[in-house]
Amino acid sequence: MQPRALSFAVLNHKGGSCKSTTAVNLAGAMAERGLRALVIDLDPQGAASYWLCGEGPHRTTPGTGVSARVIATAAPGVDLLPASPADEARADSGAGLEEDGWAFSAGDLSSLLEQGPWDVAIADCPPTLGARTRLALAVTRELLVPVEAHVLAVRGLAQLFTAMVRLDCGPRAGGHTVRVVACRVDRRKRLSGEVLEILRARLGPQLLQTVIRENVQLAEAPSFHAPITRYAPGSPGASDYRKLAEELLAAHGRGAPE
Ligand SMILES: Nc1ncnc2c1ncn2[C@@H]1O[C@H](COP(=O)(O)OP(=O)(O)OP(=O)(O)O)[C@@H](O)[C@H]1O
Ligand SMILES: [Mg+2]
Repeated sequence: MQPRALSFAVLNHKGGSCKSTTAVNLAGAMAERGLRALVIDLDPQGAASYWLCGEGPHRTTPGTGVSARVIATAAPGVDLLPASPADEARADSGAGLEEDGWAFSAGDLSSLLEQGPWDVAIADCPPTLGARTRLALAVTRELLVPVEAHVLAVRGLAQLFTAMVRLDCGPRAGGHTVRVVACRVDRRKRLSGEVLEILRARLGPQLLQTVIRENVQLAEAPSFHAPITRYAPGSPGASDYRKLAEELLAAHGRGAPE
């Protein structure tokens, strides 16, 4: 990776908390700014792989080296390290999901990132805090925690942070910067506003200014195998993920496109 490369683990133990949506579309928005992005799909269900490449190209035979498995996607500047079919088979069988390791070790992944051409790596984690999530933490510097803007999801945050401390990756442990992004915000609903206030009070500067609005085009985009910035470039979702990329880059003193 480039010396000033960025790396994020998109993590939340709660299922359906907008992790894959955030990983894919943040990568799309970063690429649109001229950065080369790698999405690392660590979820055996392969949602990010399907989103970017459909059912076909990522179903290569597992066992080849990690760099040989990286594929270009139809979105310029976005590459994918897909979930492996073997992973998915294990997920389907329900067997030992968390203890099965992954096709590659943290060492394999770290050298891939060090040697590869990417400006930003974004790991999409499964909804658990097990082996794969630990792997993501081992190879990235920052945690990006998407939270759905409803009360139950906010209650889960305290649990998440406690669990992360146990994994030795709490907000101040392990040198990771932790940032939370509120997703599926619907400003027409009072509840969304109240939840944002709660998040702001609880998280302070860890809560990113950017919020991702509820936007049906984000839910449609996976079927078209493109990040929102390409599937619906004028949509609220595209605009929000562009803002997210901008805010994260600005936090690193990198405002302008490279
Ligand atoms: N801003 C949004 N507006 C509308 N729908 C959204 C938005 N963000 C995510 N969704 C929808 O919410 C659902 C969950 O999103 P996503 O798959 O990204 O979550 P996840 O955390 O990756 O889930 P899992 O834990 O199963 O991996 C999906 O159906 C997705 O289309
Ligand atoms: Mg997911």
